Amino acid sequence: MQLTEQIMGKPRLYDNHGREINYLRLAVTDRCNLRCFYCMPEEGIEYVDKDDLMTYEEMIRLSVVLAGMGIDKVRITGGEPFVRKDMISFLEALSRIQGLQRINITTNGTLTAGMVPRLKQIGIHSVNLSLDSLDKERFFRITRRDVFDQVMQTLEELLDERMEVKVNAVVMDGKNTEDLLPLAELARHKKLGVRFIEEMPFNGSGAAPTGLPWDHRRILAFLQEHYPGLEKIPDPPFSTSQNYRIPGFEGTIGIIAAYSRTFCGSCNRLRITPQGTLKTCLYDGGVFNVRDLLRNGASDLQLRDAFAAALSHRAKDGFEAEERRLGNPVSESMSTIGG
Ligand code: 5AD
Ligand code: SF4
Repeated sequence: MQLTEQIMGKPRLYDNHGREINYLRLAVTDRCNLRCFYCMPEEGIEYVDKDDLMTYEEMIRLSVVLAGMGIDKVRITGGEPFVRKDMISFLEALSRIQGLQRINITTNGTLTAGMVPRLKQIGIHSVNLSLDSLDKERFFRITRRDVFDQVMQTLEELLDERMEVKVNAVVMDGKNTEDLLPLAELARHKKLGVRFIEEMPFNGSGAAPTGLPWDHRRILAFLQEHYPGLEKIPDPPFSTSQNYRIPGFEGTIGIIAAYSRTFCGSCNRLRITPQGTLKTCLYDGGVFNVRDLLRNGASDLQLRDAFAAALSHRAKDGFEAEERRLGNPVSESMSTIGG
């Protein structure tokens, strides 16, 4: 099977199902300064040893190799990326890689207040801000940390700098459903995307989810009830969200069926965890460890072969990926995977 080709000088990468792969989600740390209950238990998770985390040099090297194979967009995630030292220098190095056209960041926004103009200057294209409540008390109950004001300041700066912003809110029964409308209202006068995400079982405790009271259908029905004019708009290519517009709103509303997994057919992404595990699906158990290959002296060609081999037996969707884990059910914390 031919998994790579050049079209008009641009490398292209495909998986065994013919899906183009052009997007890398790179988790730069498993550490986080919050304890969102859907992601981590209160006492935190056992963090990976510092030496087991990939170094910035290693992350740059693998990004160069992947950019040479057809990856043109990278999202930096964590944990919380900005708890890692010298993030800015790393972002600068990443922005100089040829072939990477977009660098996006997912952050909780607690450590970025004051930093946004710099991010814009480096050429960061868009920022996804995790924000599950606009009520300070509920924010505290969800994240177990009192840093709501810092997040709001980051949001303001992102809007002032006219950066592309998406607010990501996980919808949790009994925890933040009062916030759905206030969060949606953010898009009335602000040019941003508000996206509601189904809760997934990645909470670091191994506790199985008890059904999903707020699946994508219920979220949509709820929004339709309050905004009868809600209308579907075309989704960008490879979008994981179903996108909507409310008449008179400047921004848009999105719903991400993260647990129902309705979007796998067009999945264009690879993931690399902070300790270097390559995942070809959020729900898989990991395919191989890139860090080990790098530390064993692999050449660029050997790295390319390893990536291509991983893509040649990729599961067709998140359900197949989960089935293949056999006796090793999904229980890890999202902060060790990168969302
Ligand atoms: N279910 C759904 N989304 C989650 N996130 C973290 N844990 C979960 C979960 N269990 C989201 C965060 C953030 C992104 C990195 O992943 O809210 O927006
Ligand atoms: Fe930190 Fe994000 Fe996990 Fe919250 S969801 S604990 S902000 S990594």
